Amino acid sequence: MPLVARLARRFRRSVFQRRGCAIAADCQIAAGVQARPGWRGERRGEIVVGQGCELADGVILDAWGGRIELGTRVFIGPYAVIYGHGGVTIGDGTLISMHCRILSSDHFIPSPDRKIRHESDVLKPTVIGADVWLGAGATILGGVTIGAGAVVGAGSVIKRDVPGGAVVVGNPPRLIRQR
Ligand SMILES: CC(C)(COP(=O)(O)OP(=O)(O)OC[C@H]1O[C@@H](n2cnc3c(N)ncnc32)[C@H](O)[C@@H]1OP(=O)(O)O)[C@@H](O)C(=O)NCCC(=O)NCCS
Repeated sequence: MPLVARLARRFRRSVFQRRGCAIAADCQIAAGVQARPGWRGERRGEIVVGQGCELADGVILDAWGGRIELGTRVFIGPYAVIYGHGGVTIGDGTLISMHCRILSSDHFIPSPDRKIRHESDVLKPTVIGADVWLGAGATILGGVTIGAGAVVGAGSVIKRDVPGGAVVVGNPPRLIRQR
């Protein structure tokens, strides 16, 4: 890798470290990536990125005072967004395609005399196993566990757990086969 690119990579890593993110030394972080730990009351959020991860242009990791943890060699494609309110964990070697959305909270839905905007978040930890592939634009809602080796088709919306090795597609998702 050319010297300028190496220096740019090191600079971006140091910027994220100053913001409180723990990014392993050999990660590839594209220029347009944003990573914000954020706060929940007195608690500072955490973002942990394991060795050999690649974050493409436009990726947003926004922990909102929760925690986002990527294992080793995770790839996150362009413009994917991860919200860590209730905690998001992603296993080793997992492939998150472009424009995926991974959530870990809901808003409490109040009676109509109260504003949704003013209700608190309902925290729902999301766990994505190792060697998972999320197709382009898949949405993973809070509280879901996706088992190791599963595949989620492009554009799917996942609200329930997906067993390891399952290939699921659509909204609502259906199982098309087991790997
Ligand atoms: C999930 C996926 C891998 C399955 O591929 P496949 O095994 O070749 O599946 P098939 O094409 O045989 O489709 C099987 C069935 O699932 C349906 N299907 C496949 N992908 C679907 C999707 N993303 N959403 C809804 N239905 C889908 C097909 O229409 C077909 O339905 P039918 O049996 O009623 O005709 C693929 O369709 C997919 O979504 N790939 C994501 C590609 C991507 O996001 N790449 C980003 C770059 S990394």
